[in-house]
Amino acid sequence: MTSDQQRVFAAFRSRVGRDPSGIWSAPGRANLIGEHLDYNDCHVLPYALSLRTRVAVAPRADGRVRCWSLQDDAVADMTLADAATATGWSAYIIGTAWAMTEAGAEVSGLDVVADGDVPVGGGLSSSAALEMSTALAINDLFDAGLTQLDLARAGQRAEHEVVGAPVGLMDQVAALLGAAGHAVLLDCRSLDHQPIELPLRETQTRLLVIDSHVSHDVADGVYAARRSACERVAKALGVPALRDATLSDLESGPDLDDELRRRARHVLTEERRVLETVGLLARRDMAGVGRLLTASHQSLRDDYEVSVPELDGLVAAALEGGALGARLTGAGFGGCVVALARADQVEDLVARVRRRAAVEGWPTPAVYDGDPCDGARRDS
Ligand code: GLA
Repeated sequence: MTSDQQRVFAAFRSRVGRDPSGIWSAPGRANLIGEHLDYNDCHVLPYALSLRTRVAVAPRADGRVRCWSLQDDAVADMTLADAATATGWSAYIIGTAWAMTEAGAEVSGLDVVADGDVPVGGGLSSSAALEMSTALAINDLFDAGLTQLDLARAGQRAEHEVVGAPVGLMDQVAALLGAAGHAVLLDCRSLDHQPIELPLRETQTRLLVIDSHVSHDVADGVYAARRSACERVAKALGVPALRDATLSDLESGPDLDDELRRRARHVLTEERRVLETVGLLARRDMAGVGRLLTASHQSLRDDYEVSVPELDGLVAAALEGGALGARLTGAGFGGCVVALARADQVEDLVARVRRRAAVEGWPTPAVYDGDPCDGARRDS
């Protein structure tokens, strides 16, 4: 066992008074490109990070779910039937267990101890990491036989019905299906997915994840407002989702106010950028990929309006420090920037980003290695 695994194993023993049946883990994710596209049935290109959430789990027979987190003193203890009343981090665990029973898993109860280094509220989807590590554990321990997409959907249902966040499916799929060296191209309509190689070593480039420390929450209503704006435009255009609209539909279509038109323009231009990025990656054109990342940020800032000054400033500083491209990653309103840079530029870039934060009086950004790693798995 690694020291991280030993830590959560020992914590389980001391809190629960017996050994766990196993340890499962799932990663945080960054999204390379394709932001706010999943709930519009478009394509996204996320990948798994090296930051992980680990859960030590053992079944119970009395229908209760008890959870502890090493990042928080609160303990949760409730029956699955009461899942709707779960709050805070434990809602992701209890909500996923509940959604899996709704999908046919026979869950007789659980003790769960969670630990990890995915920053909470940092836009790297610590929530999906907790959901998918729990989901894998339940699938194994109760022989539930659910598919990976079933597990992803159970996490999403927990978010919708227990947490109250109307998220798409991107984060759960990235946490489950991420693979070292690759991003996952997910068609959010058909749910077809394929690994896309990120040729970082070959092109001597790196991905960095820069945490602004501005906290965000997808259950706070702004995310839901963006989602419903997209649904309103689709309805006005008479299409099932913005996936089915074109830019010329938007120009020539019904009278939409400027704000709604810009929201939809972000979605339609971002979908193009995702598909172009896949082509550029295949051609090893990392400078081209970088330009699309920066264009994505501009679109999120100006059309979708989900950036904040700290994210704009960190993107600008990364570009001044020589990044090939940079953009906010995740829902926005805070969280992280993902930057693509030549390996020999990384030091300058990090120095530039830290200097900018110091000059502005912002918290010193944490910089994580943003290269793609493996998805969820059983660790022991
Ligand atoms: C959050 C949601 C995802 C996705 C992104 C924005 O991370 O959980 O489903 O919508 O925001 O791309």
